[in-house]
Amino acid sequence: MWVCIKEWKNRDVISAKDFSKKEFLFLFDVAKKFKQNKLKANVGKTVTLLFFEPSTRTYNSFRMAAHKIGCFTDGFASAQTTSVVKGESTFDTLKMFTGYGTDCFVIRHPKAGIHRYLAERFDVPIINAGDDSHEHPTQAMLDVFTIWENFGKIDGLKIGIMGDLRYGRTPSSLSYVLSNWKVKLYFIAPELLQIEKRLDNMEFFLQKKGVDYEKISNYKDVLNELDVLYVTRIQKERFPDLTEYEKVKGSYVITSKDLKGVKKHFIVMHPLPRVNEIDTSVDNTPHAKYFEQAKNGLYVRMALLYLILGGSDEK
Ligand code: CP
Repeated sequence: MWVCIKEWKNRDVISAKDFSKKEFLFLFDVAKKFKQNKLKANVGKTVTLLFFEPSTRTYNSFRMAAHKIGCFTDGFASAQTTSVVKGESTFDTLKMFTGYGTDCFVIRHPKAGIHRYLAERFDVPIINAGDDSHEHPTQAMLDVFTIWENFGKIDGLKIGIMGDLRYGRTPSSLSYVLSNWKVKLYFIAPELLQIEKRLDNMEFFLQKKGVDYEKISNYKDVLNELDVLYVTRIQKERFPDLTEYEKVKGSYVITSKDLKGVKKHFIVMHPLPRVNEIDTSVDNTPHAKYFEQAKNGLYVRMALLYLILGGSDEK
């Protein structure tokens, strides 16, 4: 166990591809301990949250997670109230906070790949809280934690990932984490939003890793075989051409009627926010796990900050 503690300490979290199955499982164990109130921590470090794009869950769960493990937070939830609007660079913004004594940056940014650039220039850990359409690794950690917690395993599950697979950053990071297990993935989207349209070679990675997957357009073709359906919002704000968005908007809406023939333990997930992809009629079914999933963000991010900033050795 102590080996994993060392492996997490001072790590940057840039891509979900950078971590092993062993490291994820270790993180999940620590998150579970926090969730069950079996672990308390008083880390006493400073976490700087820099959100250059809007957020409800990621910003607030990181902030609350930091406070719950005895850390301080500074930074901003919106760059609109900062000197970024006067033209200050991201590099200079981080440089300022290092002067104030930060121990870790949690950054959401509209530029894909910027976290790697920043990690090469700053000594404190950099955590990617979402970069454009590229990745959202900590979301994927809490997503797979939720699956692991619900099923007690990940191997052997059939998982549908549906929606905006082209511009969404959660489908890529989720697929990368799941590629560590023997799962069957179904990528469900209209042709315009399928994985081969992404700019980041995600499909090439999955093929190289030997992941078993299929691409389909109609969720009804596989719904009753699935263990998990992970629904995502169509990312209107990331379409370069809104006429393309008009072609695919409202392509799918899951309602409670769709769930009549699903497996008993089937679960519906969503990183949230939802717009209309999951009808509220699903909320009161035992299959709806998206609010529990969002809540798990708190525990997974507590575990993440705890391990990166100085979780003690638990022999
Ligand atoms: N899931 C997620 O990243 O939500 P926010 O955009 O509200 O942080």
